[in-house]
Amino acid sequence: MCGIVAYIGEEQAFPIVLKGLKRLEYRGYDSAGIALINKEGLLNYKHKGKVSELEKHTDKKNIDGTIGIGHTRWATHGLPNDVNAHPHLSGNENIALIHNGIIENYDTLKEGLIARGHTFKSETDTEVLVHLVEDIQEHEKVSTAEAVRLALNNVIGAYAIVVMSKDNPNQLIAARKSSPLVVGIGKEGDFYLASDATPIVEYTNEVVYLEDEEIAIVERNKGLRLYNIQNQEKTPYIQELEMQLEALEKGGYEHFMLKEIHEQPRSIKDCFRGRLNVNKGWVGLGGIKDYEQQLATAKRIIFVACGTSWHAALVGEYLFEDLTRIPVEVEYASEFRYRNPIIGEGDIVIAISQSGETADTLAALELAKAKGATILGICNVVGSSISRITHAGSYTHAGPEIGVASTKAFTAQVTVLTIMALAIARKKGTLNEAKFRRIITELELIPEKVAKVLESSDYIESISEIYKDAANALYLGRGNSFPVALEGALKLKEISYIHAEGYPAAEMKHGPIALIDEAMPVFVIATKGQSYEKVVSNIQEVKARKGKVIAIVTEGDKQVKAMADHVIEIPDTDEHLVPLLATIPFQLLSYYIAVMRGCNVDQPRNLAKSVTVE
Ligand code: G6P
Repeated sequence: MCGIVAYIGEEQAFPIVLKGLKRLEYRGYDSAGIALINKEGLLNYKHKGKVSELEKHTDKKNIDGTIGIGHTRWATHGLPNDVNAHPHLSGNENIALIHNGIIENYDTLKEGLIARGHTFKSETDTEVLVHLVEDIQEHEKVSTAEAVRLALNNVIGAYAIVVMSKDNPNQLIAARKSSPLVVGIGKEGDFYLASDATPIVEYTNEVVYLEDEEIAIVERNKGLRLYNIQNQEKTPYIQELEMQLEALEKGGYEHFMLKEIHEQPRSIKDCFRGRLNVNKGWVGLGGIKDYEQQLATAKRIIFVACGTSWHAALVGEYLFEDLTRIPVEVEYASEFRYRNPIIGEGDIVIAISQSGETADTLAALELAKAKGATILGICNVVGSSISRITHAGSYTHAGPEIGVASTKAFTAQVTVLTIMALAIARKKGTLNEAKFRRIITELELIPEKVAKVLESSDYIESISEIYKDAANALYLGRGNSFPVALEGALKLKEISYIHAEGYPAAEMKHGPIALIDEAMPVFVIATKGQSYEKVVSNIQEVKARKGKVIAIVTEGDKQVKAMADHVIEIPDTDEHLVPLLATIPFQLLSYYIAVMRGCNVDQPRNLAKSVTVE
C-alpha cells in the first residue's frame, strides 16, 4: 500500500526515483509524485493516475537535482486526485514529505494545527504530519530532523516516511513504524530509500532494514546515522541483498503475471532446494529446525493469513491434519486480531504472507506473541516485517512477485507447508515410510508436472475465449481442492472483474445451485482420488440444470470427459499434491480472460499487493 522512494547523491535524482516508483507501482497506482530540490528551490510534481502519467506531466519541466523523494499512492484518506497525491508540503513550502501508512490521530492533530493558523489543501493524514513537523520546528527552533522526531512522538498509527527540507538540501530524514522501509548504501556515498529493495537492487546490494520507531538520517559527507524515536543512537545493521535484477523485469512476457505463472516449475524447485532429499528419504526446513520438537508436540496450530495466503493456509490445514494429526485452525488475520482469541502458551501460530508486511497479519502475530504463543512465519520477501518479528520461519524463495494477483507465491507457500507437514509427521511418527516416500518422490516431480500443465496454455486460452463474457462463475472442489476452487474464484474476480464464487462441491446444493443456468460456467476440480465419484455426481447436478462445466481432471480420465463441456488434463500425482497442479489452469484462465476483457492484469483496479493498512 503506497510505495516510497528517495535518493541523495551525485547522480540526477529524478530518473532514479521515477524508475523506483515504477518498480513499486504494485503497491498502489492511484497517483504518483516526485519532489526535488535544486537551485530554484523545492519543486513538487504530482499527478493522478499511474507513474507514466506523472512522467508525461513532467516532460520538459525542470527536473534537475541530486536529492529527491517520490511516492505512488493507494488512497486511504481522500480521493485519488492531484491534490491528495504525495509528496505533501508544509505551509511555508520548505518541507516535503512522503508517507506510507495511516496517521490514526490525524483529526485531532489537524484541529490543533488549524487553531494555530495552519491551512490545508488536501484531505490526507499525510499533510497533517508535514504541517506538524513545520509547526514544531518553528516553535521549538530545532532542526528538521529533530522536529520529525518530536512529531513522530505525537503520532498514533503506522508510517514509513521520508522528509526533505529546503533548509538542508544535503539531508534526507526517514522513519518507520509498521510500514516497511529499506536504506540502500550506495558505492559513492549516495543513498537510496524505498518501501522494499526492488528500486535499490540495481545500484547496491548493501541495505539496512529499518526497525519500528527508528529514524535514519542520510547526509552527504556524513553518511547514515540511525536513532530511535527517544533519540538514542543505534548502530546500523548492514545486510547483503540476494535479489537479482532480472527477477524484476518481464523477461519477454507481456505481463508480470504471465511470467510469474510460467516461473512456477523453477520457483517450486527453488522452494524445495536443500529441503528435500528423495534418495536419503529426508525433508527438513532449516529455519524452523529448533522448533520441530515443539511443533511435533503442539496441541494446536493456528494459521493466520489474508487473501491468497489464506487459501494456502487452508491447503495447509488438510496437509497438517492428515499427515501430523495436529488440530489446525485457519483464521483470517483481520478477524482473529479483534476477536479476543483463546491462545495459550503451548499454541503455535503460523503466519503466511507473500509480502511479510500485511498489516492485519502482523497485528495478529503480535497479539499471539503477547499472549504467549510461539509465532512462526512463512514469507516470500526476505527481511520483511513478519520474518523479523517471528521466533522463526521459512522463506518460500519464489523470488519477487510483481503482479498484484498472487500466483507463484501461492504454489511456493503450499510447497513449504507440504515440507513442514512432512517433517513434523516424521518427527511425530504419524506417517509411515511408504506413504512418506511416495509423497516426497511425487513432490520432486511437481516442477516438471507443472511445466506439463503449462503446455496446455493455448488450449486454456481457447476456453477463456468462450467464457470471457460471463457475468458470474462458480468454482467447485472438495477436500484439498476446495481451497483451490476459492483461489480460482479469487483470481478471476481480482483481475477480470467477473463475479465468481468458490464452494465445496457438495455445498452447491445448499444455495449456489439456484444460480445455475446455461449462462453459468462452473469450473470443477474432478481429479482422481477419494472424492472423485462424489464430484462426478456434483457435475451431473450442474449438467442437469444446463450449466457449462469446465473440469480439471487427471490425465486419461474418461468419465468426466463424457459429461463436461471442456476438460483440462493435469498429470497424475499423489492426492496431497493436487493443489500444486490444479491451481495452474485457473491462473491461466483468469489471466487470459482478463487480457481478452482489456483489463490491466498486473495492476487491477482498487487493489494493491502489499496491504499495509487495516
Ligand atoms: C493483497 C494481495 C493478495 C494477497 C493478500 C495477502 O490482497 O493483492 O494477492 O494474497 O494481499 O498478502 P500477503 O502479502 O500477506 O500474502
